Amino acid sequence: MLSVAELLERFNAHLAGLNLQRSPRGLYEPVDYVLSLGGKRIRPILMLMAYNLYKEDVSAIFSPATAIEVYHNYTLLHDDLMDRADRRRGKPTVHKVWNDNVAILSGDAMLVLAYQYMAQVPEVHLQKVLALFSQTALEICEGQQLDMDFESRKDVTEAEYIEMIRLKTSVLLAASLKIGAILGGASDEDADRLYQFGMNLGVAFQLKDDLLDAFGRVEVFGKNIGGDILCNKKTYLLIQALEHADADQTELLGKWLDATDYDATEKINAVTMLYNQIGVKQLCESKILEYSDLASRNLEAVTLPQARKDELEQLMRKLMYREV
Ligand code: IPE
Ligand code: IPE
Ligand code: MG
Ligand code: MG
Ligand code: MG
Repeated sequence: MLSVAELLERFNAHLAGLNLQRSPRGLYEPVDYVLSLGGKRIRPILMLMAYNLYKEDVSAIFSPATAIEVYHNYTLLHDDLMDRADRRRGKPTVHKVWNDNVAILSGDAMLVLAYQYMAQVPEVHLQKVLALFSQTALEICEGQQLDMDFESRKDVTEAEYIEMIRLKTSVLLAASLKIGAILGGASDEDADRLYQFGMNLGVAFQLKDDLLDAFGRVEVFGKNIGGDILCNKKTYLLIQALEHADADQTELLGKWLDATDYDATEKINAVTMLYNQIGVKQLCESKILEYSDLASRNLEAVTLPQARKDELEQLMRKLMYREV
């Protein structure tokens, strides 16, 4: 079995060798740009790790692993437009370096490229893998639409939030693992257990992303801090703040949520201060633990010796305590 570091090195070498030297360059340069900025590569790594539970020759699935990373990066191009986000992976976002139209069209091209790479799986698995990939891609659109719809609501419940992040984030981690398992020859039951592991891991992962968006350090996180606050995103932090605020805090939060003409830094500082007063960071941290424990139990249920699953368990723990 390969370590995460070894998988990352091999997969990154493969990605760097991809030949996207097509024209017009205006379409493909942004693709190169975003893929070359790195990122954690968590989805392809999860796919390779799930496969590696059963098979050794991980390079045999570099095409679907590439597909999942290219697909993920496509969602980021469009997500950054939708979220009006200027910074990612420590660099200006595609719509900032180029423009909105470029982010839309290069993103579209990446979605098609992702399908081309995914379609290279062995024919015996093709139908199952493409069905799962397509269902996942549609669910992500559904999650992203809910995320946008929630911006203009103040009554989003915790259950609605969890469902939204399952759709926009978890399903892709889950599908990455399941595709790896299918290609590795896992039983249907174990492939489903790994899918469930990914779902719960994904919820913990997005909760942590929301936490870092308010409390992270820009130099490490690579995205501007407070972006979610500026968009009135219904993160776990904001939902809990609205739920636990006293009368004065409720009024102040409401004022910031309704504000149309304000100084961005002032809003971020004010809302963050309310988060601190209300103590929502701790609530979010315990939710992360709750979901990572659920994920651990899903992983335990996979019918392989525990030692074989340690690397996945450790990766999950690392993600829970990450700063990036
Ligand atoms: C960002 O994903 C989008 C979320 C679902 C939070 P990652 O945090 O995996 O971003 P990169 O690929 O490592 O940059
Ligand atoms: C992203 O959620 C989910 C998808 C990209 C589908 P976020 O909007 O929180 O991701 P970041 O924080 O911009 O990476
Ligand atoms: Mg975003
Ligand atoms: Mg978003
Ligand atoms: Mg985020």
